[in-house]
Amino acid sequence: MTLLRPVRFSDVPTIIAIENSCFESPWEPDIFETLAGWDGEVKLADSGIAFMRVADEEDDVVGYIIWMVHLDKSRGHIANIAVTEEHRGRGIGTSMLKHAFDNLRTREIPRCSLEVRESNHAARRFYEKAGMTPSGRVRDYYSNEDAITYSIDL
Ligand SMILES: CC(C)(COP(=O)(O)OP(=O)(O)OC[C@H]1O[C@@H](n2cnc3c(N)ncnc32)[C@H](O)[C@@H]1OP(=O)(O)O)[C@@H](O)C(=O)NCCC(=O)NCCS
Repeated sequence: MTLLRPVRFSDVPTIIAIENSCFESPWEPDIFETLAGWDGEVKLADSGIAFMRVADEEDDVVGYIIWMVHLDKSRGHIANIAVTEEHRGRGIGTSMLKHAFDNLRTREIPRCSLEVRESNHAARRFYEKAGMTPSGRVRDYYSNEDAITYSIDL
């Protein structure tokens, strides 16, 4: 059974390994360490609040999600989501995404958006299946590639 829970400091090495295996330009470990140090909820000085939850299967972290609420509460933002390759295709990504949407709804945030690499067809299909729609393009967002922005009205 998969449980979604706040990130712990002891999860960080596994998270870093998943991050490095999933992304061409992985995030620096200190971001995960900071979120773990604050039980997955960090107030950002000038931009809002960041949240992190992990998908836990019998004490193994098999995925994680990070989302943000902007300071003016106008929208939420999915900042990072990943599931280990061997645990994909079982709905874990969807349950993490829906958890973030529900959290935003309880805060009365009307909209959520994100950026994804144009070539990341699996993730784009995943977001579309969750009800998100393409809303724009950011040129060279990833330095070597455009981002497609997706959004959803909550
Ligand atoms: C994107 C990701 C988080 C999806 O996680 P997941 O747990 O496998 O997703 P789910 O099992 O909930 O999939 C839900 C739907 O998304 C779509 N989907 C997921 N993976 C897909 C793939 N490889 N190809 C096409 N569609 C896919 C399907 O429609 C799927 O529904 P179905 O199983 O009924 O067909 C996972 O593939 C991942 O970690 N990828 C690497 C990291 C990444 O790219 N993150 C996004 C950065 S913007």
